[in-house]
Amino acid sequence: MTDWRIFNFDTVESTNDTAKEYSRTATDNFVITADKQTAGRGRRGRRWVSLDGNLFCSIGLKFELKHLGKLVLLSSLSLLQAIKNLKPDADVKLKWPNDVLLNGAKVSGMLLEKGADDFMIVGIGVNIKQSPVGAQMLYKTTSLYTAGIHTDKENFLNLLLQKLSENLDLLQKDPDFVRFKWLEYAKGLNEEIVVCQDNVKKMGIFTGIDENAALLLNTEQGLIKILVGDVFYMSDEND
Ligand code: BTN
Repeated sequence: MTDWRIFNFDTVESTNDTAKEYSRTATDNFVITADKQTAGRGRRGRRWVSLDGNLFCSIGLKFELKHLGKLVLLSSLSLLQAIKNLKPDADVKLKWPNDVLLNGAKVSGMLLEKGADDFMIVGIGVNIKQSPVGAQMLYKTTSLYTAGIHTDKENFLNLLLQKLSENLDLLQKDPDFVRFKWLEYAKGLNEEIVVCQDNVKKMGIFTGIDENAALLLNTEQGLIKILVGDVFYMSDEND
């Protein structure tokens, strides 16, 4: 089991920045949390709206950069399992690469960045009490509270770290388990999706992920591997 040293701050710009800084002197796994973020960051240069009562944390752990894909899958799977621990029949799905959907809307996002030396920083935002709304949101959003899951950020973080520790142990025993487990909960598998990469849109059937967590898309031009992008589901068009 992994031990985590947890440091809580009142206000930071971004817990990922605080974690990167701390990783320069850290020797063991650690977690940075904050009650408020003034400059929370999302994937692909976007902003992460940090609303009161929600969880903002950055987990620092030693992980080989070449296995980064596995860490992405492992972290999102742990988030899903933490939610299911609170409500076993919750409708939770994983959206490539690292979002968690609850009742079809985004409840959590993740930003992985490199820390000092061999530390990786897994920055996680979970909408515990409320979720941002507005036209600028790329995908529909929800919170645990809206879905009837009443918890607080401290309790949720403990559950998340417990699941993460268990999954890190399992990964040691079977490096491929996480891919198959992730696929069990993947939204849109074997369905038509669109992947947006800046101004380029690629359409095809989402057939799986490879061992490095790249998305496999069966397009009219053949099977391609996608490393970065935002996924949209054709099935959402009917909502
Ligand atoms: C995304 O979905 O675009 C990723 C969002 C990641 C947000 C979290 S909140 C804690 C950590 N600190 C940040 O500045 N970002 C991550």
